[in-house]
Amino acid sequence: MAFPMGALVTTSWLFLVALVPLPNVHANSWSHAAHNMVGRRNKMVSISPNSPDRVSWPGPWAKAHATFYEGGPRSFGGACGYKDVVKEGYGLDTTALSSVLFKNGQTCGACYELKCVDSPQWCKAGQPSIFVTATNHCPPNFDKPGDDGGWCNPPRQHFDLAKPAYLKIALYKSGIVPVQYRRVPCKKQGGIRFTINGNPYFNLVLVWNVGGAGDVTAVRVKGNKKVINWTNMKRNWGQKWESTDMLVGEKLTFSVRASDGRFSVSRNVVPSNWKFGQTFQGKNFT
Ligand SMILES: *[C@@H]1O[C@H](CO)[C@@H](O)[C@H](O)[C@H]1NC(C)=O
Repeated sequence: MAFPMGALVTTSWLFLVALVPLPNVHANSWSHAAHNMVGRRNKMVSISPNSPDRVSWPGPWAKAHATFYEGGPRSFGGACGYKDVVKEGYGLDTTALSSVLFKNGQTCGACYELKCVDSPQWCKAGQPSIFVTATNHCPPNFDKPGDDGGWCNPPRQHFDLAKPAYLKIALYKSGIVPVQYRRVPCKKQGGIRFTINGNPYFNLVLVWNVGGAGDVTAVRVKGNKKVINWTNMKRNWGQKWESTDMLVGEKLTFSVRASDGRFSVSRNVVPSNWKFGQTFQGKNFT
């Protein structure tokens, strides 16, 4: 198989994640979206009230467990493709998700409110909430049972938090605590960022700093010369989206669909003299 250079990653488990077949973007979701489009072109609009994957805010509380992991800002973004979560504005309030919650990268960028519950001896007094962004995958460990070390094994709902986030809700010594969690809207500064990597025959675009739902279900791109029609990008891994269209030399417009059914069109945000490795800022959800 053609494996993109830009997707090469350093750790072996991450490599495996990248090879897992990813669900295809629903082909009809765009037409559904377009059908319901209201408002002016060029503006972000609210659509698809009946979209099955719509998130209403805040989401319902659910139960899970949380642990923490050490590591630097770079490791906190591994399986989602984010490079340096601190520089990219996610801070240290980030989490890795078990496979059931991670959904092959679909939930990268989603935001959660978590509280430590039902464990007075290990929870911080007053049960404070933390607000974390999903930036990584907690891979299963099938050598261990789900109730003893294999915390991220299916079907467990598990948050492996960056240590600074964990220590806001639970004591260091606890190791693992029960939590309740719910989806909340993501608040971001500035626009959605598009970082273009790859080569002329294989573009790999990292979509990050997404507000609102925070996670992306579909991305489309078009240029202004030859690639004049919208083309669907495909999720490669995490929040990296691929296209084999020849985009070099084209002024680019991106359309991003979030998991709540809304989409945001960033028109002509990439000038025609763009280079691989550069990042561009588009419109955001609020
Ligand atoms: C763009 O779409 C139109 C309408 O479907 C089609 O006729 C045309 O050939 C397409 N152009 C390119 C460059 O793909």
